[in-house]
Amino acid sequence: MTAVAAGSRAMTTAPWLASVVVNAYEVSNGKPATTPPATNASRNHWLWYGRRCRVSARAAPARAAAMTARPAPMNSGESPSTATRVNGTVKEKAVTPSSPHHSPAPARGDITECAKTVALLLLVMDNDNSSRIVEGLRKWIGAAAPGARLPSTRALVAQYQASPVTVQKALRTLATQGLVETRPGVGTFVRAVRTGRPADYGWQTAALRAPHAPARSVATALRSVPHDVIGFHSGYPDRELLPERLVRTALSRAARSEAAIARPPVAGVPELQSWFAHELRAATPVGVTASTPSDVIVLPGTQSGLSSVFRALAGAGQPVIMESPTYWGAILAASQAGVHVVPVPTGVEGPDPVELDRAFHESGARLFYAQPNYANPTGAQWPAERAQQVLEVVRAHGAFLVEDDWAHDFGITTTPVPLAAGDDSGHVIYLRSLTKSVSPALRVGAIIARGPARERILTDRAAEAMYVSGALQTAALDVVTHPGWQTHLRGLRHHLRTRRDQLLANLAEHAPQAHVEHVPPGGLNLWARLPDDTDLAQLAHDCEHAGVIIAGGTEWFPAEPTGPYLRLNYSGPHPASFPDGARILGATLGRHHG
Ligand SMILES: Cc1ncc(COP(=O)(O)O)c(C=O)c1O
Repeated sequence: MTAVAAGSRAMTTAPWLASVVVNAYEVSNGKPATTPPATNASRNHWLWYGRRCRVSARAAPARAAAMTARPAPMNSGESPSTATRVNGTVKEKAVTPSSPHHSPAPARGDITECAKTVALLLLVMDNDNSSRIVEGLRKWIGAAAPGARLPSTRALVAQYQASPVTVQKALRTLATQGLVETRPGVGTFVRAVRTGRPADYGWQTAALRAPHAPARSVATALRSVPHDVIGFHSGYPDRELLPERLVRTALSRAARSEAAIARPPVAGVPELQSWFAHELRAATPVGVTASTPSDVIVLPGTQSGLSSVFRALAGAGQPVIMESPTYWGAILAASQAGVHVVPVPTGVEGPDPVELDRAFHESGARLFYAQPNYANPTGAQWPAERAQQVLEVVRAHGAFLVEDDWAHDFGITTTPVPLAAGDDSGHVIYLRSLTKSVSPALRVGAIIARGPARERILTDRAAEAMYVSGALQTAALDVVTHPGWQTHLRGLRHHLRTRRDQLLANLAEHAPQAHVEHVPPGGLNLWARLPDDTDLAQLAHDCEHAGVIIAGGTEWFPAEPTGPYLRLNYSGPHPASFPDGARILGATLGRHHG
């Protein structure tokens, strides 16, 4: 950039900027070292720009004028030293220099821009200076003994050729970094403890004693992975399977409603309680007393409901029967609640009622956790007759069946009928989740229970979380009562079927060693049996190395796994990559067993 003064040669703006910066720096300290040219600085004439910079309002036009060779007067008089009209409209004073200054200044209209530039430059210079001092002092501190006194501000000003303000700023930075401490009126000192050292938490080993449950790492199903890998591990449907538009609209409506502010009742927003009760009532056969809204407790996801049930209806040290394999989160919740898990084998038709009866007898358990519809991980759905037999065993033992209906919205070739719909004697505790079908971000579910059991669960809920966000409850209700919800569910059924069948076909073609014994009529997963001597951990490691994330089946067994299995989720992102994923899995298995 060049500035051309009339009658003068072109010159760069750099020298001007430097000189203005110096002047402005001085005035920012309130001590202009030189009188600005052709102006009388007075309080009213300083303009403030930002926090640090003020410039003279009069100086700018005067400088502008000074940049121009003095024009010839238009009138000649006897007193040429008085104000004189000159060429153009500029009225000049006699003191205006007649030859251009070397420092161009902005025209009157440019003063704001000029001041901004000055302020910016000051800031940059100030920061540069201060970091230079910080760097220098860090080195000094590194070689100094703890408690050593830093040179005085005056000495640092001289050493670094910087202003006291800049030196103070550098010292503040070092203090924030924990390297020095300032004792007012005494000086600044190197801090005794300068570097963070690893803390010793050994005392906690003694305080916590042995864990009451074996430590488990976060489940593979909860792992977040980069977009460019193929994920068969996740427990959550891809966003293309969610009613995204309905959810977004519902959330903005909820934000504008009373629910965004009000505190809802502990058991839930009454309208949502009614919706859950109504859904179960719709499946209730004639002759059975249907559930009512007052049986419903709304949950922030059914996972916490499982914990409540294990705590409130069994308690630490008490036995709880579970299918094996079963949902890893139920195993985790049980172990955190300190209950003693009693596994019963289960298959595509559910648990054998005789085995279940024996487990009740032997353990004395009063709680059986199960997934009659689209079990996670196997996808099994109990036939109606088996469901009745199981219910009879439970009743005969005066026990509860905790029915986890997590995949109610994920029927593919069948429609799920909850066992709870056929029970009006309070033996079935029903858990219904909306997390995976509405949105993992809304995370709303419910427990439907009757009698004292419901009261105990409600008390546990109040102790655990008090109540569920009314805004989330209202949004969830908005989604499931919208006419678009049923349309969405019909589309979802179709998508899940396509994805399930595609993955089945891809496995059959590229990874026949992963044998899927049962085509699930619903849910989100395939449960594949691998050759007996498969090292699951090594397989998962090698697949991940090749860009495919899989979940070994071990996490779904409450006791020792009965063989090497994989749970393969077909609802994840990029279904078009299923063939590649199957190819990589097949090739890796081939290498393991080759
Ligand atoms: C079988 C089963 N039950 C319960 C849950 C927990 O669901 P929510 O999101 O409602 O807590 C899950 C989640 O993966 C599940 O797979």
